Amino acid sequence: MSNRILIIDDEKLIRESLTHLLTGAGHRVEVASRVDDAKVQIAKEVYDLILIDLRLPDGSGIDLMRHIHDQVDYAPLCIMMTAYGSVDTAVEAMKYGAYDYINKPFKSKEILLIVKLALETGKLKREVRDIIKEQSKANDIISVDPMMERVMAMVRKVAGNRDVSVLIQGESGTGKELVAKAIHSLSERSSQPFVSINCASIPGNLLESELFGYEKGAFTDAKSRKLGLLEKGNGGTVFLDEIGDMEAPLQAKLLRVLEESKFRRLGSVEDVCIDVRFLSATNQSLEKLIEENKFREDLYYRIKVINIVVPPLRERRLDIELLLKYYFDHFNRKFKKNVKEISEGALELLQNYQWRGNVRELKNLVERIMILEDSEIITEEHLPLEVFSANRDRNRFGLALPWEYDFRQGVDFNELVKSFSSYLIEEAMKVAGGNKAKTARLLNMDRGTLRYQIKKLGVVNGNDDESDDD
Ligand SMILES: Nc1ncnc2c1ncn2[C@@H]1O[C@H](COP(=O)(O)OP(=O)(O)OP(=O)(O)O)[C@@H](O)[C@H]1O
Ligand SMILES: [Mg+2]
Repeated sequence: MSNRILIIDDEKLIRESLTHLLTGAGHRVEVASRVDDAKVQIAKEVYDLILIDLRLPDGSGIDLMRHIHDQVDYAPLCIMMTAYGSVDTAVEAMKYGAYDYINKPFKSKEILLIVKLALETGKLKREVRDIIKEQSKANDIISVDPMMERVMAMVRKVAGNRDVSVLIQGESGTGKELVAKAIHSLSERSSQPFVSINCASIPGNLLESELFGYEKGAFTDAKSRKLGLLEKGNGGTVFLDEIGDMEAPLQAKLLRVLEESKFRRLGSVEDVCIDVRFLSATNQSLEKLIEENKFREDLYYRIKVINIVVPPLRERRLDIELLLKYYFDHFNRKFKKNVKEISEGALELLQNYQWRGNVRELKNLVERIMILEDSEIITEEHLPLEVFSANRDRNRFGLALPWEYDFRQGVDFNELVKSFSSYLIEEAMKVAGGNKAKTARLLNMDRGTLRYQIKKLGVVNGNDDESDDD
């Protein structure tokens, strides 16, 4: 494909000789002799390269170039031409973004070489810009942690395939929906709709009509035909959020859609064919639901041709600092505040915190702090109490505060009781200086029970002298 070049010079001879030279090299050339005319042309056309004379009858070439840089969003490369050859103006031209400059009179060879290099540079710049644009589609996902980089690599791979179904698993607030959107926007379906439906928040029969749509008269309230999400998403991506909550009859119907790419609107006898990619997400264990006969195994294999597991925030601690800064910035703009940094102590507390609610919890925490505080530096005193209490001895006993447990994920009752009992005994033992009788008193239990518990829990520590009774 030939390149489009615009030459702006008030000297007819120069315009003609350059046109001749560059057309001869296979480029498409247009000319202008005044700043005003050039601006009109630049607004209308897309040029790969613009050659600008330094002095034009109605203005300076440098001003025109600045105009191009400020106003033209694809920012074409500019080469400044000057007959007045002072290094100063050339330097100035470069400072304002000229790619290069040429002194008049010029040699044909020289011009051709500079133009060639400029065009190559321009092409490279455009490629880089496209890559960044491509990345920024997924850029809502903020992450530096290698754990998450692996997830993003999967996202890019599955996005490259048009149809494959993906099941996105992960705790609440880890960013499953963001991952789904990233897959859609990086895929060739990106210009088509992304429709999403939350299977947990809509009752079963309503969910069915939302998904499949209905014909007029299909039920009492069906006054006219309504298209369902499957049809609305045709050509694009359908995201089934919280799929573990879908009821059994609907699971069977969905299975057919996945297998045959067709379905019927409620009250219709005709099949509608659709072309969609299905993404599903859940924070429940589908495997467990299958065991309990609450989720169809055949559907499970259909929706999880590829499985992406988004790791919880506490397993990608490198992301914590980045996300904090990202949300400081976000809420600075939203609330017109000026938080600049976070103290080391506060950061450490947050890095050791469990984040049961993952990124959503972090975002809410930053929002809460920034609504309440006007300080430029976030320190420990700005942090809510739960961050402190959850930090204490957490690593040793793996204990969280009762309200931090996510019971939908299931908790191990015996393990937790064991950890908690060990914690109480070890702490009391420390206070009692290892004296078991005193420890028993502090815990309001008799010595026999304490001895039994120590043995059962495997608590080491303390004074083994049985007779020790202070
Ligand atoms: N990596 C990330 N970068 C920036 N923001 C994120 C990231 N991950 C999650 N978020 C933000 O956290 C919030 C929760 O994300 P999202 O809704 O995608 O989570 P989810 O896994 O779908 O949660 P749930 O299971 O509760 O539906 C959103 O506000 C989202 O923008
Ligand atoms: Mg979600």
